[in-house]
Amino acid sequence: MSKALEGVRILDFTHVQSGPTCTQLLAWFGADVIKVERAGEGDATRAQLRDIPGVDSLYFTMLNHNKRSITLNAKHPAGKEVLETLIRDCDVLVENFAPGALDRMGFGWERIQELNPRMIVASVKGFGPGPYEHCKVYENVAQCTGGAASTTGFEDGPPVVTGAQIGDSGSGLHLALGIVTALYQRQVTGRGQRVLTAMQDAVLNLCRVKLRDQQRLERNGVMEEYPQYPEGTFGDAVPRAGNASGGGQPGWILKCKGWEDDPNAYIYFITQAAVWPAICKVIGREEWITDPDYATPRARLPRLMQVFATIEEWTREHTKFEVMDILNQYDIPCGPILSMKEIAEEPSLRATGTIVEVDHPERGPYLTVGNPIKLSDSPTEVRRSPLLGEHTEEVLGQLGYSSEQIAALRSVHAI
Ligand code: COA
Repeated sequence: MSKALEGVRILDFTHVQSGPTCTQLLAWFGADVIKVERAGEGDATRAQLRDIPGVDSLYFTMLNHNKRSITLNAKHPAGKEVLETLIRDCDVLVENFAPGALDRMGFGWERIQELNPRMIVASVKGFGPGPYEHCKVYENVAQCTGGAASTTGFEDGPPVVTGAQIGDSGSGLHLALGIVTALYQRQVTGRGQRVLTAMQDAVLNLCRVKLRDQQRLERNGVMEEYPQYPEGTFGDAVPRAGNASGGGQPGWILKCKGWEDDPNAYIYFITQAAVWPAICKVIGREEWITDPDYATPRARLPRLMQVFATIEEWTREHTKFEVMDILNQYDIPCGPILSMKEIAEEPSLRATGTIVEVDHPERGPYLTVGNPIKLSDSPTEVRRSPLLGEHTEEVLGQLGYSSEQIAALRSVHAI
């Protein structure tokens, strides 16, 4: 079966996580992604957090599936010529270098336009134009500057960063959408364009409910679904809300049977208004269905923590999976806290290709996350990440370089 992005060629100048997430998605949709790396070194993540000495790390392999790798010294005159050929040949250049690095290489937007006016140049940067535009940025910097850290954690603790890589992988996702949108527009205009995703913007986009709450707070002085209500105090900025729900249906994380020994024996419990009578029956509090102190969402708001403490008396008697089974019989929304071990071993996630086992010539089999976006007419086959420079000869050969020319480039360390 053909792939959605078949025929699209990507010059992948990305490294670390944000850019590679984006180009891996494009590769999964069928684009030919040529990853350009420095000879001898490659993407720094090949050597970071290694679990097997001398073998590409899981950090690298899990972000670079379905790509081809070539080595190239973009600062060597002969390497620059190869890069020019690649720019003429490709549809999209994706990069996430530090600000200005591409210009310093001699490949600013104007030069790329001269070489290929149809080329789309897509970049991840830490910040958009403004006071911080020249800064280098990693994941947690973006989480802190995009509003995630100040709104995550508990009121009596410091700001907390999340395990979800919303700065890096979140930016990569945003950039991928920008690229396919620009490819779509190019069909009409015939022109390329620049696509920019600032990591701060991507994190803020994912934190928009907190900007919503900032304005609610400024208008009303309190937010009734926050744990600070009614006894605590609100300052002038959105506080950390612990495990409170970000939506209109109150929720909290509750202990389940075995919590004393298992750090993940918990469940997220949502007291959705529509199923309140069912909740009361399940936990043995049928009187709450009609009690004016509990019968309506508004009446429950000032005593939410007490409501959750009572529900927890019931959840503590059951495992998180028993709770899930029982609550789902009544359409009560809930979610067991799954550990990474449980996720890795979950057969249904393997069946859907959400978790995939991949074989690698140097490390052997390993698990990775498959394509989370499933297209019915463009199924994803996850192929292992390339070794450093594995496809240099193949790609240069396709670009018209003879084996003598490739040998000459190698002898001067241009590739
Ligand atoms: N040939 C020659 N030079 C190359 C090259 C190649 N194939 N590939 C990279 N380089 C050079 C760059 O041109 C740059 O040189 P310069 O400093 O002389 O301009 C140099 O390598 C280092 O690149 P840089 O991007 O500055 O890497 P870094 O390791 O110092 O910084 C980041 C890493 C991630 C902090 C930085 O790239 C960044 O802020 N990127 C944007 C935001 C981002 O994506 N962050 C998330 C990463 S997950």
